[in-house]
Amino acid sequence: MRGVGIVMKVIWQGNIVDRMDVHVDIEDRGYQFGDGIYEVIRVYKGCLFTGKEHINRLYESASKVRLHIPYSFQQMVDMLTRLVKENELQNGSIYVQVTRGVSPRNHLFPPATVETILSAYTKEFSRPVETIYNGVKAKTVEDIRWLKCDVKSLNLLGNVLAKQSAYEAGCFEAIQHRIGMVTEGSASNIAIVVDGKVKTHPANHLILNGIVRQVMLQTCVSNHIQVDEAPFTLEDLMRADEIFMTSTTSEITPIVEVDGTIIGNGMPGPITKKLQSYYEEEIKKQCGSYCL
Ligand code: PDD
Repeated sequence: MRGVGIVMKVIWQGNIVDRMDVHVDIEDRGYQFGDGIYEVIRVYKGCLFTGKEHINRLYESASKVRLHIPYSFQQMVDMLTRLVKENELQNGSIYVQVTRGVSPRNHLFPPATVETILSAYTKEFSRPVETIYNGVKAKTVEDIRWLKCDVKSLNLLGNVLAKQSAYEAGCFEAIQHRIGMVTEGSASNIAIVVDGKVKTHPANHLILNGIVRQVMLQTCVSNHIQVDEAPFTLEDLMRADEIFMTSTTSEITPIVEVDGTIIGNGMPGPITKKLQSYYEEEIKKQCGSYCL
């Protein structure tokens, strides 16, 4: 175990190199316009959890913003797996991003000859067991983002402002809403439980279709927990029996207080706990007997 943080080898344009040898050009479009896309993939016991789903979503995001990734799916899998091995990463994540390349600043796409820039690094950290077991507080904020939230875009200013506002209110996550309809968290999906049924925003242009969200919904179906992928209001949120957030880094984290109001009895609820245990089973199935 090398301690928490970014480990030294990175991927830069298809090669594994030392982090210190990488220099981002000042005219990289990711840097200047946020013109690019990214993924965060979780690694447990050295194995990419739902790696295929994340890599597929990377290609989907790229295609939605007309960005070309000059590597095949298999080349991407091989590169990322090699990076994890080289960095001896056991538990943590891979961050991978693709930008529209380096070109003199101009809003128009650069000429087709300009190469996209693919980079990736790994970060070591363990599961956030304290928040998973005790839950977190959240703050509601207006969703001020663009209308392609299904794209995992580098443009995260709306998300950054939402998260900072939650943090300054002593909360862990922001719950965003558009005119009173809950969309998603600043870096997570949000679900509520009402009368034993799990409700979450449908996967459309207003949210990122989270991979943990998808795994969670599948486990609901396999375990006969009713699901409803439908929008819900701030009133539904505040009256819910349980609330939880899902994301690659937070897994399934209970939300026990919103805007100072206690949800349920202020403790992680029974359905949330069941879903957490099904999620752990999925981790074990894919990545071996990972345990806390
Ligand atoms: N965020 N919605 C938003 C806006 C997100 O940024 C994320 C993930 C999710 C959950 O997606 P997934 O279950 O695939 O992680 C939903 C990542 C972790 C991040 O930006 O760090």
